[in-house]
Amino acid sequence: MHSWLRDAGLAAYERLLEREIDGGPTHVAIIQDGNRRYAREHGGDANEGHEAGAETTEQVLQWCQDYGIEELTLYAFSTENFERPAEEREHLFDLLAEKLRSFADTDRIHEEEVSIRAIGRTGRLPERVRDAIRYAEDRTAEYDRFVLNVAVAYGGRAELLEATRTVVEEAADGEIDPGDVDAALIEDRLYDRPVRDVDLIIRTGGDERTSNFLPWHANGNEAAVYFCAPYWPEFDKIDFLRGIRTYEHREESWRRTRARRGLALLRELGGAELEEAKRVVERFRDSLPTPEREAYNVDEVTSGPPSD
Ligand code: FPP
Ligand code: MG
Repeated sequence: MHSWLRDAGLAAYERLLEREIDGGPTHVAIIQDGNRRYAREHGGDANEGHEAGAETTEQVLQWCQDYGIEELTLYAFSTENFERPAEEREHLFDLLAEKLRSFADTDRIHEEEVSIRAIGRTGRLPERVRDAIRYAEDRTAEYDRFVLNVAVAYGGRAELLEATRTVVEEAADGEIDPGDVDAALIEDRLYDRPVRDVDLIIRTGGDERTSNFLPWHANGNEAAVYFCAPYWPEFDKIDFLRGIRTYEHREESWRRTRARRGLALLRELGGAELEEAKRVVERFRDSLPTPEREAYNVDEVTSGPPSD
């Protein structure tokens, strides 16, 4: 049997086994776009647009908790946003600092045990925002029932570059062996924060781009992506539920593909891996359309002569 096929098969099984599939996404990441266009259409300025956007942010946090999502990552300020006019930028910093503090003081955050964390080059932010981040992180540090990541001064490439630099320095200092660099080690160096793989990215405002957002956790994980037209301040519960549905549809077809791949791989594996593979296929076989499911029988598939 070809080793590449075996490796690919085992890696796929590992991922399948690690993943809990229970219908909805576990980790949703949102690109909150369209605040200024919304404001312009309503005769307001950029600052009013961001304030209206912040109200949506609060609602969405609530919906995520209501629908059993366990982690939410919000793109609140990108590295590109530093280029915005100073007046708008300073207002956004004020707003972020205020919201981080008010989240951390909200009873519900404590009742629901929400851990608030910032990801990004936070050292680039003004002191008042850094203080607010510290305040929110410290007040919620003991919690882990729900994770709210606020991406501020965040850029995906910058995140990967920084992790790469750290790893290279550690290798140069002899702290790690380059041969030991694997996905888990890189993940460990990404902004020092444990972030789960992203299941669903939502982007409002009509642009169909993922804009340097979570390249490792979302794009590397092939997250489902839901692009929608409403500006962020207009994003409502129906849009949110449509996003969840997009994830569920994608997940269903993903399960079907895995079951089919699993069947093909069953023919190639032997020994303990064969038993493992059988269990995985059994777990996903219900996702196959009825004729395929009825035609399928693990023992038949694997009773032929072993391949090389
Ligand atoms: C993008 O719309 C939005 C932002 C750059 C800011 C997002 C921040 C908030 C909604 C504040 C609240 C967030 C938290 C986490 C408390 P845009 O300005 O690019 O609008 P446009 O696309 O219409 O120009
Ligand atoms: Mg925009």
